[in-house]
Amino acid sequence: MFIKHATIERNTILLAVLTLVTVAIGGLVEIVPLFTIETTIERVQGMRPYSPLELAGRNIYIREGCYLCHSQQIRPLRDEVERYGHYSLAAESMYDHPFQWGSKRTGPDLARVGGKYSNEWHVAHLVDPRAVVPQSIMPPYAFLAQKPVDPSDIADHLKALRLVGVPYSDEMIASAKADFTAQAEPDADTDGVLARYPKAALGDFDGNPRVTEMDALVAYLQMLGRLVEFDRTQPGGLRQ
Ligand code: HEC
Repeated sequence: MFIKHATIERNTILLAVLTLVTVAIGGLVEIVPLFTIETTIERVQGMRPYSPLELAGRNIYIREGCYLCHSQQIRPLRDEVERYGHYSLAAESMYDHPFQWGSKRTGPDLARVGGKYSNEWHVAHLVDPRAVVPQSIMPPYAFLAQKPVDPSDIADHLKALRLVGVPYSDEMIASAKADFTAQAEPDADTDGVLARYPKAALGDFDGNPRVTEMDALVAYLQMLGRLVEFDRTQPGGLRQ
């Protein structure tokens, strides 16, 4: 045994080949089952792709680097679950390209912030965080309320995500621009938006008739963590 080992150690090429084979076996054993077992991503009820307005908001979230201070992953630890709610499921970020799990929590986790506050609270907080949370160290984002979002290329964003596997239908892409405006318009006919994107937060979020970056960002925040129907989802997958 030791003699054989000495032979291997003295022959670099043989050592390299055998190392590669060993590492490859280790890699296969760890990675291959993930492609086959169903529980890699638990099936859950309620997940849907982002509505066009939410998607625009998400792009602003990424552009502004909110993920540098906020995570979107509630770990299955008691203190986190008691503070933020049900721990995050893999399925909740399955349409995220790129995911926003984050790695730093200067501010609280945002995975379930949707519905926690009113739209007015979010707008006031983003305009001047210290107006609502006096000790806050979050930077102000008042400029978002001044910047209109141009929906002319929103359908292209949906198409790009479809290329990487997000199930946007032809109908969703065709009505992307209309859905974008309808979601932020208080008097619009929103049946289509809600049929395509259940639970989408509706309304003129910032009180400004133009669709601004503020509207888009708040629509995104208000949806976070609200999609999965936990009463119909149990650990280990969906039971119907
Ligand atoms: C420098 C770090 C920092 C950055 C960058 C930052 N935040 Fe915050 N955020 C905080 C801190 C700290 C708090 C907790 C105090 C407060 O509520 O203001 C917070 C709180 C929040 C809350 C309330 C969460 C809760 O559950 O009470 C929301 C929503 C939020 N931030 C959204 C955002 C968004 C959207 C962005 C990007 C546009 C952003 N934050 C960027 C630090 C940051």
